Amino acid sequence: MNATVIEGHGLKRYYQRGSEVVRALDGVDIEIRAGEIVSVLGPSGCGKTTLINVLSCLDKPTAGALMVGGKSVAGLSEEELVEVRRGVLGFVFQQFSLLPTLTVRENVELPLLFLGLRPDRAWTDEILASVGLTDRATHLPRELSGGQMQRVAIARALISSPRVLVADEPTGNLDKSTGESIIALFKRLASETGVAILLTTHNTVFAAETDHIITLQDGRIVSDIRPSDPQRRHQPSQTI
Ligand SMILES: Nc1ncnc2c1ncn2[C@@H]1O[C@H](COP(=O)(O)OP(=O)(O)OP(=O)(O)O)[C@@H](O)[C@H]1O
Ligand SMILES: [Mg+2]
Repeated sequence: MNATVIEGHGLKRYYQRGSEVVRALDGVDIEIRAGEIVSVLGPSGCGKTTLINVLSCLDKPTAGALMVGGKSVAGLSEEELVEVRRGVLGFVFQQFSLLPTLTVRENVELPLLFLGLRPDRAWTDEILASVGLTDRATHLPRELSGGQMQRVAIARALISSPRVLVADEPTGNLDKSTGESIIALFKRLASETGVAILLTTHNTVFAAETDHIITLQDGRIVSDIRPSDPQRRHQPSQTI
């Protein structure tokens, strides 16, 4: 069995909205292993974005225990959380967030420049090849299709060799066949590099292609399965 890269127990995230408490996450137990593609499914407002933001240390849980890259993140300062994110996680942003005046190569290398690191040309070439963008390296974002822009965003997330790639609805803005090609790319990346991929989607067809399918409802896990796992795991949410 592959190593666990993210593990959460009893995760809760409550928001105060006026006099009302919104239980966006309400007691979630979750394990993400190296090299697996995890899709988080469920109706709008069920807590998908909240869950991946908590798991990727962009948001702090109201309660619960969380281990990221083998380390407990409870009580870490914002600076320490930045270090954990940098060391373990790569983010693919929904709107791609590409800088329009930079080429594909420069956009992909941008996170390294922010860290004051010198990009290694051969490594960038390798990443660009892995997402099928070698022939687009000198193009500007406006010269790309939506699927190509999404692949630039994925390449940029991969440049720092994360253990987990996090993507909130990576196929949400793409047509069916482009979405399928992104899922195929994720599968190849996960099997070739061992990176885990944590994504949210509304598309049950895409989710069915992934290794680990988690369905949320009202902030709780109502189904947690690894379809190819002989001991198919079904984990109803805890009742409190
Ligand atoms: N900052 C916030 N303050 C108050 N409530 C919030 C906040 N962020 C999210 N929520 C609420 O938490 C719940 C879960 O929201 P979340 O964004 O995680 O849902 P989602 O499953 O990602 O939905 P979608 O499929 O529409 O993206 C919703 O009821 C939402 O209104
Ligand atoms: Mg969402």
